[in-house]
Amino acid sequence: MANSSIYQNLFITLLLLFSITAPSLAQTSFRPKALVIPVTKDASTLQYLTQINQRTPQVPVKLVVDLGGNFLWVDCETNYTSSTYRPARCKSAQCSLAGSSSCGDCFSSPKPGCNNNTCGLIPDNTITGTATSGELAQDTLSIQSTNGLTPGRIATVSNFLFTCGSTFLLKGLAKGTTGMAGLGRTKIALPSQFSSAFSFHRKFAICLSSSTGVVIFGDEPYVLLPNVDASKGLSFTPLLTNPVSTSSAFSQGEPSAEYFIGVKSIVIDEKTVTVNSSLLDINSNGLGGTKVSTVDPYTVLEDSIFKAITKAFIDAAAARNIKRVAAVKPFEVCFSGKGVGSTRLGAAVPTVEFVMQNGVTWYVFGANSVVDVHNDGSVLCLGFVNGGKNARTSIVIGGYQLENNLVQFDLASSRLGFSSLLYGRQTTCANFNFTSTA
Ligand SMILES: *[C@@H]1O[C@H](CO)[C@@H](O)[C@H](O)[C@H]1NC(C)=O
Ligand SMILES: *[C@@H]1O[C@H](CO)[C@@H](O)[C@H](O)[C@H]1NC(C)=O
Ligand SMILES: *[C@@H]1O[C@H](CO)[C@@H](O)[C@H](O)[C@H]1NC(C)=O
Ligand SMILES: *[C@@H]1O[C@H](CO)[C@@H](O)[C@H](O)[C@H]1NC(C)=O
Repeated sequence: MANSSIYQNLFITLLLLFSITAPSLAQTSFRPKALVIPVTKDASTLQYLTQINQRTPQVPVKLVVDLGGNFLWVDCETNYTSSTYRPARCKSAQCSLAGSSSCGDCFSSPKPGCNNNTCGLIPDNTITGTATSGELAQDTLSIQSTNGLTPGRIATVSNFLFTCGSTFLLKGLAKGTTGMAGLGRTKIALPSQFSSAFSFHRKFAICLSSSTGVVIFGDEPYVLLPNVDASKGLSFTPLLTNPVSTSSAFSQGEPSAEYFIGVKSIVIDEKTVTVNSSLLDINSNGLGGTKVSTVDPYTVLEDSIFKAITKAFIDAAAARNIKRVAAVKPFEVCFSGKGVGSTRLGAAVPTVEFVMQNGVTWYVFGANSVVDVHNDGSVLCLGFVNGGKNARTSIVIGGYQLENNLVQFDLASSRLGFSSLLYGRQTTCANFNFTSTA
């Protein structure tokens, strides 16, 4: 009798332990197979923006999309009201999932972003490179589900983990935004939290547009009008891990949450561009290599690579009788658009190829390589910018180069899939059918 009650107590204790330690991420409304958010481009900052619903009562929260960002962070200092806000207590399962071992108090009256006995993280404004410390917390978050063709019912995660930023951290972000949506490789970035909340594959795809593109969390299909499944026929290359964090502030030993790929060579109009190949590798200090970014509006190249690529592009353009004209900032290399033919894939300018370690090629055609700076076809500038001699990452494939290409990130298989320019398949990233069936 005595023994069985000891066991009973032990059993109850274990149950309690489990209910305390299991991260409560799976309290959801229903189980969608995928989720969808629209992504617009802000004309003045060239940032890619999205909106999600958070808090109780629910409010729409406008955010800058940060592909390599560590997590969702929002300003909790101004206007954060919610009856379902829960700070993450020190040493809780939430703190360990988020990789936070810090513990702090707040010497003011309690409110969202300011509570005692909470763990914290470092929200990072990756546009300006400014970071601060902030409380880890949970709140309700809602987002549309999708069958891959159109949006469906609203799906809700009742305990979505995010970090509280401060009002000053919003400086440099597009007007009306109050934080950043991090889609990086951590356990609490949006892709991993959604996939664990709804038990779908750790996969997502981005399809950026100069108007309204889309991010789909979960498995394919990713269907664009007129009925083109952009997930078909992707080329794949391994995702590489940069062992050193690329955040503005980080602790030692933390790997980068950004998406790195192995570019091995660059080819322009079928000629290989000679570059210092050691710059294409990620070294033990985390320097070098190639990453994909939505916070850089244009591809950024380390100085010597920039010089080699621009020279090769100028030579190849000359061979096509394309004339150079004065540069238009922020670009350094511009051409007269007069007499440049137009093709289904954009202006008939030299083709840039990023050749990956596994032999697959990411083609950059006119629509992604040159920018029509006056919007009348008169001047076409090579949409690459110089990142300087001390660039931390040698090649940063930026937003303009990603537009109208579907790029899938498969976290479980650690590979990146890319479609190449969708114009070739008679569709664009602005063609997701946002007319809801729900
Ligand atoms: C705070 O929220 C109110 C109501 O939604 C809104 O009218 C106001 O502009 C917001 N203030 C700031 C500083 O965002
Ligand atoms: C945290 O605890 C200190 C000391 O007990 C107290 O002065 C302060 O008001 C508390 N802060 C919050 C946000 O509860
Ligand atoms: C190539 O780049 C590496 C890394 O920055 C540098 O140490 C090396 O000196 C460079 N080699 C040449 C030939 O410029
Ligand atoms: C978009 O989806 C809606 C809802 O399923 C459908 O009624 C509509 O025909 C679709 N639009 C196009 C252009 O196919």
